[in-house]
Amino acid sequence: MNEAASILADRDTPLIRNCWYVMSFAAEADRQLRSRKIAGIAVVYFRRLDGSIAVLRDRCPHRSFPLSKGVLDGDRLTCLYHGLTFDPDGLCVAKPTNPDNAAEIRAGRFPVVERQGVIWIWPGDPALADEAEIPDLPWLDQPGWDHVSGYLNFPANYVALHENLMDLSHFAFLHAGNIGTPEYAEAPFRVRVEGERINLRRVLEDSPLPSLLSVPTALGSKRVTRETDTWWMSPALNLTHSNVHDNAPAADHPGVYAFKVIHFITPETQYTTHNFWAVARDFRLGDPAIPAHTHASFKVAFEEDREALDWIEQRQRDEGLEFGEVHLSSDKGGILMRRRMKKLALAESDSLSPTG
Ligand code: FES
Ligand SMILES: [Fe+2]
Repeated sequence: MNEAASILADRDTPLIRNCWYVMSFAAEADRQLRSRKIAGIAVVYFRRLDGSIAVLRDRCPHRSFPLSKGVLDGDRLTCLYHGLTFDPDGLCVAKPTNPDNAAEIRAGRFPVVERQGVIWIWPGDPALADEAEIPDLPWLDQPGWDHVSGYLNFPANYVALHENLMDLSHFAFLHAGNIGTPEYAEAPFRVRVEGERINLRRVLEDSPLPSLLSVPTALGSKRVTRETDTWWMSPALNLTHSNVHDNAPAADHPGVYAFKVIHFITPETQYTTHNFWAVARDFRLGDPAIPAHTHASFKVAFEEDREALDWIEQRQRDEGLEFGEVHLSSDKGGILMRRRMKKLALAESDSLSPTG
């Protein structure tokens, strides 16, 4: 597959801001002022007294002092440089060094939604933010599911992480010791586009399971059908439905074990990426033996991805992208994703105000 690089997103493509991204796990937000960079914009967030989330730009409109270094009193945040005070909607309500100044001063405010244990933020044009676009992830809060979660920071552009997840043939090599089995790279797969989403589906028949799946399912060395359905949902989300089919289940054992692997992908800066992840399962609910094993084994795999992307990023940064790249048939999903990301990035106007 040859394709002009100019139509594929890469590490230098402007970050897409008109998108709902996960800013934080909900459990992390409290009365502390917390600073985080989202798509290159530093924001400060905290819980208001009523429990809802306030997010302001972490940059005082006076002289750029980080508001996260300021003081929270009730729901009001005071900048510790010259004392401007902001309400949780970002409106300046006190100007102690210039009390007769009647100008309306604002610290930018961002659309924010707390749902299903995560906090979504829209860092782009607030007028375009539509809560209906936030994907429903019932596996994170509905009965019948348990999950483990974690966070990794990738020293790489977010397109690289999306591409990693859209070509799972790397399981057999990069993750040979945990997710991968030798059959994985050669298994037939199908790619299709459904609306704005891109789907990559792989089915391995009569396959052994890697330990990361064989231990929690307690299927050991039994040969099973392994079905992996990965969806590029948006610049913010990659979702994998991984089903293990036991074609001859023992009495009282399920025929299908379902895992959902959820990667929230949030550009931090042009060349660094937040990865909030969760792995949900629909079996052995409440079994205390499962979470530690699942968390540890998935984390090992995700850290292998992080190391790989770090090495790739260093090459691309040091030597530039002019080197070119070859494409393989297994890149089909990744190429479609990069084309889509490039289109979305180009569609965004340069004049967007991130601060509302
Ligand atoms: S920088 Fe915040 S009040 Fe001056
Ligand atoms: Fe991986």
